[in-house]
Amino acid sequence: MESWKTFAASDLEVVDAYKLLTGLVVPRPIGWIGSQSADGNRNLAPFSFFNALGHNPPVVTFSVGVSPRVKDTAANVAETGAFTVNIVTMETVEAMNASAEEFPSEIDEFEAVGLTAVPGTVVDAPMVAEATATLECRLFESIDLAPDGGDASYRVFFGRVEAFNIDERVLDGTRVLAPELKAVGRLAGSGYATTTDGAFDLQRP
Ligand SMILES: Cc1cc2nc3c(=O)[nH]c(=O)nc-3n(C[C@H](O)[C@H](O)[C@H](O)COP(=O)(O)O)c2cc1C
Repeated sequence: MESWKTFAASDLEVVDAYKLLTGLVVPRPIGWIGSQSADGNRNLAPFSFFNALGHNPPVVTFSVGVSPRVKDTAANVAETGAFTVNIVTMETVEAMNASAEEFPSEIDEFEAVGLTAVPGTVVDAPMVAEATATLECRLFESIDLAPDGGDASYRVFFGRVEAFNIDERVLDGTRVLAPELKAVGRLAGSGYATTTDGAFDLQRP
């Protein structure tokens, strides 16, 4: 700790806080979120401020920027109370990246990036047919977070997983085979990590 450099968060430029957080909290799983507006406009976009929070009940969380514009995903999930999480793997990582383009609201990212949309089996939100696995989620809470004295800059969503859809090729019963899944995580900036290369086991004491 002698060589630690300390940054008070309140003294940091916004961009530097972002760079430190996203450089240190790695790799982050990517929630590739499928949603639709109340009148059925489909949307797909990746969010790496994403994670699973607990399993009983199974809950996932992700956050979406709402300033200077409310991103389409945030508007849709607030309207319909439903979303899907499409697991990003080596097979779909390029399409995931393409779907991050800031398309106008009326553009269907599934069509724009050449993916097939399939309706959720239990929630009103589209899934990526090409995904190896998807989670169908129902919103139960969202919270707006704001910097001191400012307006909300992002909205955190909490969703309960209502259904898991998983390609049998990556399953052994209810166990997921990591080397077959080939999930991808996000590092800082344009960096990504595989979950297979360099993976190792550690037995608990
Ligand atoms: C890997 C990756 C992770 C991202 N994570 C986030 C995130 O956590 N929060 C966010 O607001 N935007 C994030 N973005 C940017 C959004 O995907 C992008 O703004 C997208 O156009 C939003 O789409 P929408 O307006 O259709 O919801 C990320 C982009 C990429 C490529």
